Amino acid sequence: MTDRRKSFGSDNHAGAHPDVLRALSVATEGDATSYGDDPVTRQTAARLRELAGAAEAYFVFNGTGANVFGLSLMLRPFQAVVCPESSHLYEDECGAAERIIGSKLLTVATPDGKLTPELIASRLGDRGDEHRAQPHAVAIAQITEFGTCYSLDELDAISGFCRDQGLLLFIDGARLANAAAHLDCGIADIAVHADVLTFGGTKNGAIVAEAVLVMNPALVAEAPFQRKQLMQLASKMRFVAAQFAALLDGELWLRNARHANAMASRLAAAVGAVPGIELAQPVQGNAVFAILDSKQAARLQETWNFGFYGGQPGGRSLVRWMAAFDTGPADVDAFAADIAAAASAGPAG
Ligand SMILES: Cc1ncc(COP(=O)(O)O)c(C=O)c1O
Repeated sequence: MTDRRKSFGSDNHAGAHPDVLRALSVATEGDATSYGDDPVTRQTAARLRELAGAAEAYFVFNGTGANVFGLSLMLRPFQAVVCPESSHLYEDECGAAERIIGSKLLTVATPDGKLTPELIASRLGDRGDEHRAQPHAVAIAQITEFGTCYSLDELDAISGFCRDQGLLLFIDGARLANAAAHLDCGIADIAVHADVLTFGGTKNGAIVAEAVLVMNPALVAEAPFQRKQLMQLASKMRFVAAQFAALLDGELWLRNARHANAMASRLAAAVGAVPGIELAQPVQGNAVFAILDSKQAARLQETWNFGFYGGQPGGRSLVRWMAAFDTGPADVDAFAADIAAAASAGPAG
């Protein structure tokens, strides 16, 4: 069932952008060769390569598949990947990377979802010891799972460190568009730091479309085979590619991301000064992480959809409020008004 009240639970609670739906109905006209050997897929992959400066671009179905496929190009089973404890890769993919690639995830606790060279170095102590899984890659998310965004200087520091240490860098870009919008930079300015990265379409107006961008030419040769074995090669690929074509037209990806980010900032501005509400992270994309009284949050959740991210001292909870490409200012204002009312009502009985 669809919700009439706007959900702040996730950017993938949103429907599809009308331009994406239109692109699908155009793509269905006539027959096309399968498995990506069609004009829509070829042209859209070329546009993505150009946008990112990538050696190759591959379309896949979902973010978990994109992460596993991307990392599979970098790792053998005895090798490990350093990632934040809060990463989607570690926390929210049911151990897919460990099962499918066989590689160990070496996690690091972070205050804000971001790795730094120092944090990565903390997991490199066992290199050369045959009894230990060998770190060979680093995985970060841009934007992170806490809604924070690496600056280009921070990315530069991480990619430089990885290069010096012989580590490959993977970027989970489920919200890459939101990062480019926040940093006011091109996709290529972020992508240049990675060996492989993903570019999410699903959270940005598509229905089911993610891209894996291979920046390191040495990793391209195996990619078609890995994608097929990992069950991410769509036979009717033109429909996945067509969704991206719509996002690329007129930079819809950027307009959608800018809008979602602006709606999150609007919400943060409206509730940030409300007594009892504390913003837990800087708002640098389309997520607002806040801490408030647990009972008030539970009462608010009776009428609004959003997620709990764990208990905090003093009977308080960490919650996440997400904006999407189709969140309207009136949705934000109505939600903010209810948040303020819940906070001023005192603890619910
Ligand atoms: C950082 C990040 N990576 C990847 C994904 C995509 O995962 P999937 O499409 O498999 O649900 C998500 C979705 O929430 C995400 O937040």
